[in-house]
Amino acid sequence: MIICIGAGPGDIGYLPRRSADLIAHADVVAGFNAVIDVVRPLIPDSAQVIQMGYRDQVAQLDEVAKLHHAGKNCVVVFMGDIHFSGFQYLERVERACGHPVETMPGLSSAQVLASRAKVCFDETTFITFHRRGDLSPFKRHLVHVLQDQRNAIVIPCPWDEARSFMPWHIAAYLLENGIPADQQVEVWENLTRGEAEWHGTLAECAEHRCSDMSIMLIRTKAPMDSQIEPSHLPTPEQSA
Ligand SMILES: C[S@@+](CC[C@H](N)C(=O)[O-])C[C@H]1O[C@@H](n2cnc3c(N)ncnc32)[C@H](O)[C@@H]1O
Repeated sequence: MIICIGAGPGDIGYLPRRSADLIAHADVVAGFNAVIDVVRPLIPDSAQVIQMGYRDQVAQLDEVAKLHHAGKNCVVVFMGDIHFSGFQYLERVERACGHPVETMPGLSSAQVLASRAKVCFDETTFITFHRRGDLSPFKRHLVHVLQDQRNAIVIPCPWDEARSFMPWHIAAYLLENGIPADQQVEVWENLTRGEAEWHGTLAECAEHRCSDMSIMLIRTKAPMDSQIEPSHLPTPEQSA
């Protein structure tokens, strides 16, 4: 058996109980080093731990797939939720196994950010640049999202110089593409683990530096009006 689980955004307290149980009963727990560190307190002594980084992930996942095919109970842990910026890793797991695998959602850093910043999903678009392949369609989409007066929650790309698309690069790109310099931006770092938050304009964001463990909110300049019925509560003047 093999299952992929979202391990949440950092603090183990944000892991669903069902996922904690799956880890506690696993023969094999595999994942990127940073994510294994999050769930380490739940891994039984009897379990084999297979850690990996970007360079050896294919070989290590082949090892996990072998153990799965040999009948071991395998759990592959993902950062945050699998469904935001996790699908390419899921594709690698399924390629190693040779078949689709079961998944268990986790709490995404994007959900925690939405909660901290009080934005609702309905009026927000989620875009990640933390992915392999051509980023240009995603860059264009971000411009359209903002032109369409929606909020955007964005995972930057912290890789090498050639590919890096961090909040300051994103801000510069948006300014070049006509997004207003006074659009409000927030950058949140290390959510659930000693969080740091930064608020400023798009122009200021182009000068702001942050760590790899950052997620960005670009707020629409025209938030939707409430569409619920008018309140029947008396106004302060009426109650006076
Ligand atoms: C490969 S993506 C995985 C995102 C993950 N699937 C999720 O749902 O949160 C990794 C990036 O997500 C962002 N991220 C993940 N956890 C975070 C946290 N606790 N605080 C801020 N950003 C976070 C960072 O930009 C990090 O480099």
